[in-house]
Formats: sequence, C-alpha cells, structure tokens
Amino acid sequence: LIGLYGNELGLNVYVVGGFVRDLLLAINSKSNGTKSIPYDIDVVVEGDGLLFGKYVAKQLRAKYIEHPKFHTCSIFYRNGENKIIRIDIATARTEYYEEAGELPKVELSTIKKDLYRRDFSINAMAIKLNSGSFGILMDFFNCKKDLEEGKIRILYPLSFIEDPTRILRAIRFEQRFGFEIEPNTLTKLEEAVEKGYLEKVTGMRIREELEKILEEPEPMKAVKRMGKLKIIFHLFEKTYYSPTLEKDLEKLFDVKGYFKANLPSYLNKVRLFHLVLDVLLQYTPEESLKKISERYGLPKDFIKNLMQVKKVYSEISKDLNDKEKILKLSYFYEKTNGFQNEQLIFLAVKLPEELLEKYYEYLRKIEKLKLSITGKDLLKKGYEGVQIKAKLEEIKKKLLNGEIQPGEEKNLI
Ligand code: CTP
Repeated sequence: LIGLYGNELGLNVYVVGGFVRDLLLAINSKSNGTKSIPYDIDVVVEGDGLLFGKYVAKQLRAKYIEHPKFHTCSIFYRNGENKIIRIDIATARTEYYEEAGELPKVELSTIKKDLYRRDFSINAMAIKLNSGSFGILMDFFNCKKDLEEGKIRILYPLSFIEDPTRILRAIRFEQRFGFEIEPNTLTKLEEAVEKGYLEKVTGMRIREELEKILEEPEPMKAVKRMGKLKIIFHLFEKTYYSPTLEKDLEKLFDVKGYFKANLPSYLNKVRLFHLVLDVLLQYTPEESLKKISERYGLPKDFIKNLMQVKKVYSEISKDLNDKEKILKLSYFYEKTNGFQNEQLIFLAVKLPEELLEKYYEYLRKIEKLKLSITGKDLLKKGYEGVQIKAKLEEIKKKLLNGEIQPGEEKNLI
C-alpha cells in the first residue's frame, strides 16, 4: 500500500535499515523458522517525507506524529492481527555532523547517499516499494554479501567519529547475530575509543545504547567484548574491567535469573542498567562516581545505596566465622533492614556462595511475613514511641528465626 501511495504522489519510496536486514536474515534462516519479521518499519522517501507521511496516515486512518527538525514523521497503524505497526518515514538525506557526538544536521538527498551515511553495511540496504518495481533490493555497497558472511562493516572511514554511539551498536549487532566486526572496522572502532570519542557523546545517548545492549538475550557477551576493547573504561572513568568484575557481572545475571524464577516481586521497579552499574562501579573512587552518576542520570541515592551495600557486605565478611550468628535469618534482617530491591539483589551478588541459600530463604520468608499484632495493640498495652518499633522488630526477628510461630505474637507483649 505504501508503494501505491508513493506512485499516487509520484515519489520513490523504500523500506530501509533493520527491517531489510531482518527480512533477509529471516528468509535465509527459513529452515529453523526462529526469526520473525519485525513490526517497526523505517521508510525513506526521495522527496518530501512529511507530505508523504501525512498522505499515508490519512489513507490508512492512522495516528500521525511529526518531527520537523529531522524531516521525519511516525505513523502508528493497527494491522489485521491487531498489532500496532510503527512506520517511521524519513526524507532521503545526507546527514552531516558539525561536531563529533552531536545529532546530525540534515540535507535532502537520494536513496544511495542516504544509505551511504548509515552505520553498517548490514543496515544499509533498501527495498523499493513502489508498485511496478516493488521488492527490488537496493544494495549499492555489497551489503548482502556482508550479511551472508556475518560481517559488521562501516561504510566510510569517519563513521565512528561522526557518531560514536555506533561503537556500541557495532558490539550489539556483532553479539546479537554472532557476527564479526571486520578488521578494518575494528581498527577504526579502537581508534575512536582510544581517542576519547565516546566521552564526547551525551550520557543520555550512551545510556540508551547500553540499555539496548542489556535488553539483548545474552548481554554478557557484549559486556565482555566492551571490557576487552576498553570501552567500559572510556564510558566509566577509573573503572577497570578485571576478571573479578567479570565474575561478579556473570553472577549478577545468574542471580537475576534466580530472582525472576523464585522471588519475582523483588524485581519490582528494579532497572537492569542500575544493577549492572552497581556491580561495575563497586570499586570506582567516589569522586569519579559523582561524575558518572551525573553523566548517566542515575538516581539521587544511587551512590549512597551502593556504599551501603558495600559496607554491609564487608561487615558480613567479617562475621563469616561466627556461624551461629550468620545462619539466623534475623541476621539478614538486621543487615538489610530498609534496603531497596536493587540493593537486596546486589547484595546477593556479593554474598559468599555458602550464605546465599540462607539469604534467599530469608527473602522468601520476609516477603510473606505479616504480624498478627500492630502498633495499636502495643499502644493499648502501654508501650510508647520508639519502644513500639523496637518491640515489633524483636517479634519479627523471633518469627523469622522460628522462635515463635505465626499467631503467637500476642504472647510476647
Ligand atoms: N542508523 C545509523 N546510525 C545510528 C543509528 C541508526 O545509521 N547511529 C540507521 C541504520 O541504518 C539502522 C536504522 O538507522 O538500521 C534504524 O535504527 P534503529 O531503529 O536504531 O536500529 P535497527 O537497525 O532497526 O535495529 P534494531 O533491530 O535493534 O531495532
């Protein structure tokens, strides 16, 4: 239909980028049928993309949103299967960058030039949609071959310099598809990292790319690659990617898997990005932490919470020999009272293996723990202010340790 509308307005219309890549991948892997065709579609028009977008939205009775600064618009359309399809429509353009790391300025252009300015060859193919030439693959730069051979290749030497977020995109696509960044591209990538181009990008754009990496099915692969290529060091100053850190990160993903399967309520409001940073930044000096926290828009209490877990963890390490003390569930209550979910999960990463089962048992129990008496009951019995809180905590600990059974609380007051 989009091609037909293109004909009606006399414009060349193409579907481009990730959609074409995934379509070709899906066709090539038809035998295992695991890849599905995506529902986000990027369309490029040779001519006025906004005019075209408005026309399409009207014909399809779809929702239309315009981004005039970038000569682009988006259409949201419900298809036959009741799925929302998002179609982003752009005017064919030559983007040029006045400063490294900034968003591009846009100049009108043709499809070939438009494709040439894109990140990697695998993302730089288009399929024509106009009726009459529908389905013709536009492959100007041997892109299909790279896709078949599993290569991530930049199209022009300054690609990473002009848009350093592509450094992270290269890693994401490489690990997602099990491809390889080809040698010349890798050299250019390393140069851009080394020369500090990642530092020129706003924290928000970096954060968006990192969050996308963490949404991939196996994010650890990409994290390891980023560690090896010193990307982590350039993203987070004074953060050295070491084998110890890598082990902790691996453990984080295991622990998160455990929580998801067994203690899912603790994942409430927890962002994987924050958890990964807890682990990654645990040895980073406080001065640097402040800068990093500001740069990436971390929550106000991020550093304080991180320090708190570190403190508790080192206290627990000292108590390790006192088995009687540490194997009581009330011990974890004392240590983690007031912790947020993110802190509870980070602590699980740091705890020695021998304590983990007990800790999980504690989390399971405290989650469901409900006292059969309240502060009001204590007030009636003559307790006051702080005494009430202390008594309630004492009762909670007894319940946790199994020293009293649920329902027996009233015997203690
Ligand atoms: N693109 C680019 N440079 C960037 C970001 C995007 O050249 N820094 C181009 C690529 O051609 C890409 C297209 O814009 O294919 C759309 O970008 P995006 O939606 O971010 O990525 P997809 O390729 O669709 O990947 P994904 O499957 O992760 O959505």
